[in-house]
Amino acid sequence: MTSKTLSILSQEELSGWWAKIQTKVDQMVKQMGDKSPHVSAAGVYDDMRVDWWTSGFWPGLLWVMHDMTGKQHYRDAAWSWDERIEQCFLRENRFHHDVGFQFLATAVIKYKLTGDADGKRRGLQAANFLAGRFNPVGGFIRAWNQPERPGWSIIDTMMNVSILFWAAQELGDARFSHVGKAHADTVMNKVIRPDGSVPHITVFDPETGDVLEYVGGQGYSPSSSWSRGQAWAIYGMANTYKYTGDKRYLEAARRVAHYFISCLPEDYVSHWDFRVPDLTGEPRDTSATSCAASGLLEIAEHLPAEEGRIYRTAAEKMLRSLTENYSTLDRLEYEGILLAGTGSKPSNSNVNVSLIYGDYFYVEAVSKLLGWSHAIF
Ligand code: GLY
Repeated sequence: MTSKTLSILSQEELSGWWAKIQTKVDQMVKQMGDKSPHVSAAGVYDDMRVDWWTSGFWPGLLWVMHDMTGKQHYRDAAWSWDERIEQCFLRENRFHHDVGFQFLATAVIKYKLTGDADGKRRGLQAANFLAGRFNPVGGFIRAWNQPERPGWSIIDTMMNVSILFWAAQELGDARFSHVGKAHADTVMNKVIRPDGSVPHITVFDPETGDVLEYVGGQGYSPSSSWSRGQAWAIYGMANTYKYTGDKRYLEAARRVAHYFISCLPEDYVSHWDFRVPDLTGEPRDTSATSCAASGLLEIAEHLPAEEGRIYRTAAEKMLRSLTENYSTLDRLEYEGILLAGTGSKPSNSNVNVSLIYGDYFYVEAVSKLLGWSHAIF
């Protein structure tokens, strides 16, 4: 028995989604040109600065489409992005821990799929940059660059450590995986709560490594659970298991996954934070749902079919609801695939919009259901 035989989705249903995704992405390629999309509030993606943390997701989506279909126009549209992003290192260099997102989805996937030597070089450069943000006393990777925040670490970084594991394999140099594992250990021991929920921000004393406090960040409060943060934790821990084979990370991913699944409302699409005191009328965050779905599929991939079934089934229900209730697959001109994404509710920015990372993880997760196995993260 394979996990596919346990699927609740028919091949016909999946093929129908896939045909629509292709038509939709083809149209977006035509409409969007060289834009660096981040947020689409009314059916038109913005054109964000290229060093912004989200700049890898559109080309990443195109690389997935290319790998799934073999079609050249996706590859052509994706090709120059790692170079464009690299150029920003030479200018102001405002990069931070999110170089993982940015270069895995551009340079590293390009290298993996085409053997491009510049892609490899750029990926390794980003891994070096990320490893350089490690605080060895606290065992964490520094998130952002504000001078007053040298001890700030955020759950999102769990997605970026994959570039360290990739570099370790590529170079045969364990220093990179030591950093990735040390960060993941700190998250397991000091960030993930016993019930499987996580805060967004953990503030360490950068001198002693002690935890000073937790901060709500993009979540409702320091003790709440921002749903996209839970998704980053699920997927990041599952990836850390994939690269290291250390079962503790898989167990951590499963613990956060159980919490996430138990918090889902009836339609399987997460609210922006699971612990807002009254969720009535609170916005959803489809990007948390699509990212978590892809992470759940990653967990299922590493388990015997029956044991992985709850993760796969939950992911399929989430993706079905996203497709049927929250997608624009039937609105061709609309730039953005998923509606109802929430960027940051506490600062009231980008609420109820399309977010390029939500779109990316949706396409990635559906591709996984169709057998895609060249995961970027
Ligand atoms: N990495 C920032 C966010 O998830 O919004």
